Amino acid sequence: MATNDKDKLEMLQEEKEKISKGGGEKRIAKQHEKGKLTARERIENFLDNGSFVELNAFVKHRQTQLGMDKKEAPGEGVVTGYGTVDGRLVYVFAQDFTVLGGTLGEMHAYKICDAMDRAAKVGAPFIGLNDSGGARIQEGVDALKGYGNIFYRNTIYSGVIPQISAIMGPCAGGAVYSPALTDFVFMVRDTSQMFITGPQVIKTVTGEEVSFEELGGADTHNSKSGVGHFAADNDEDCLAQIRELLSFIPSNNAEDPPAVEPSDDPNRKEEDLKDIIPENPNKPYDVRDVITRITDDGYFFEIQESYAQNIIIGFSRLNGRTVGIIANQPAHLAGCLDINASDKASRFIRFCDSFNIPIVTFQDVPGYLPGTDQEHGGIIRHGAKLLYAYSEATVPKITVILRKSYGGSYLAMCSKSLQADVVYAYPSAEIAVMGPEGAANIIFKKDIENSDDPENTRQEKISEYREQFANPYVAASRGRVDDIIDPKETRPRLIYALETLQTKREQRPSKKHGNIPV
Ligand code: HXC
Repeated sequence: MATNDKDKLEMLQEEKEKISKGGGEKRIAKQHEKGKLTARERIENFLDNGSFVELNAFVKHRQTQLGMDKKEAPGEGVVTGYGTVDGRLVYVFAQDFTVLGGTLGEMHAYKICDAMDRAAKVGAPFIGLNDSGGARIQEGVDALKGYGNIFYRNTIYSGVIPQISAIMGPCAGGAVYSPALTDFVFMVRDTSQMFITGPQVIKTVTGEEVSFEELGGADTHNSKSGVGHFAADNDEDCLAQIRELLSFIPSNNAEDPPAVEPSDDPNRKEEDLKDIIPENPNKPYDVRDVITRITDDGYFFEIQESYAQNIIIGFSRLNGRTVGIIANQPAHLAGCLDINASDKASRFIRFCDSFNIPIVTFQDVPGYLPGTDQEHGGIIRHGAKLLYAYSEATVPKITVILRKSYGGSYLAMCSKSLQADVVYAYPSAEIAVMGPEGAANIIFKKDIENSDDPENTRQEKISEYREQFANPYVAASRGRVDDIIDPKETRPRLIYALETLQTKREQRPSKKHGNIPV
């Protein structure tokens, strides 16, 4: 090799080393002190060993105002590229807080958009590791344009490739909207926050005092706002959770989810399933105990477990194939549907439908939550989303009615009328317009009032109603239930039904897009 070539190679090596050191050792040490990994450490930890290929490492900002001509920004404050997770291709960006606080300027945004375009072109999931001071103030409208370009891509690639965001540091102002547009948001406890306006601004404008963590930390967004889907204890935990999520979902909307070699007997019968659901319809139980008796190896990957706990959503496998599970949770608010539960389930249904994931619904629902909070908060509008999302979904849809199934909520939880492909009911199911107590009080009002012993008459009428209507047989006689099954047979019946539905294709009237009540 000529000496001149050697110099060039040395120069290349030096340049790459400089870029790989980001904001330098002092800032890296500060990042570690906060309990955070650096952008490169995160990517290395996340991807399969040695699989990362970096893109656009030499990109530089071209700003000169406000001292930017003197500011060096190795890698432009963001590392982008591709690699594999369990051998499957993914594209990734990781903002580098050690370089200008990971702030987003024109070229920083260009790097992210370029990686997104490439991911969409080849149909690979896109994962963003956010850790940034937001729009780079010195870049003004160029920075804002950069965010706009990202939001646009988040939207047009929604439903094309899975998009996942991890919040691993600050994420403030309009910057929060890119994660919010993606399918799943992971947050790290104590080191990540999301908010539109921070504690100082809130104090100035409203006088309210609130800490960063209380305002927009992982637990807040996972339990109160519903913005977060997962909370992790540290960076490594967060990245491991994302890898696990990826194992359930396909790489794009033209693929089926990855199947795994089944490790559980598809014909396994669960004798104690019938004992988990109490005979008394008012007695609570944890519906997770039903789910985990049915799924492969009793495994359930729950999503948003601390938010709207009256409905449970998540992924499991049945005979090695991914299913999205939605279940009313009688252990919380008696499993009533409310605004937050409707939003939570609807978004999940739409994800499953976008990415060819069959949906299994477990119903035990007494109705919509009554009250002015709910009515004035728009339960009509939010509840309608659930009807819309289930009706719109063309993936295989199987419903199992465990116990209560009343009125609008019976319809909303993937009834036959919303085109569920298969509906099974347990013998304990009660499918009716409303529960026996409410119904008897209305339709036998006069009999009760005119009786010598109103309370006794009321109880008699409740029993009469229960016998006639609070069972699955009337619904089955009208073809609203395909079969009434012994609970112990749920797993084999679901697996067989899913197998028969694998080739399901459903055509709908052509349109630009529907108008879901948002
Ligand atoms: C330019 C910024 C910056 C910003 C931080 N830095 N935010 N530079 N534009 N928005 C720089 C700091 O000057 C510092 O540079 C380095 O990044 C690290 O920041 P520190 O403040 O030293 O770190 P820390 O104490 O950990 O505090 C982090 C922080 C704080 C909480 C993020 O920096 C902060 O509040 N920044 C402003 C956040 C914000 O309001 N952003 C705009 C949001 S609005 P040196 O050289 O000293 O190391 C937005 C609009 C998007 O993003 C619109 C989309 C439509």
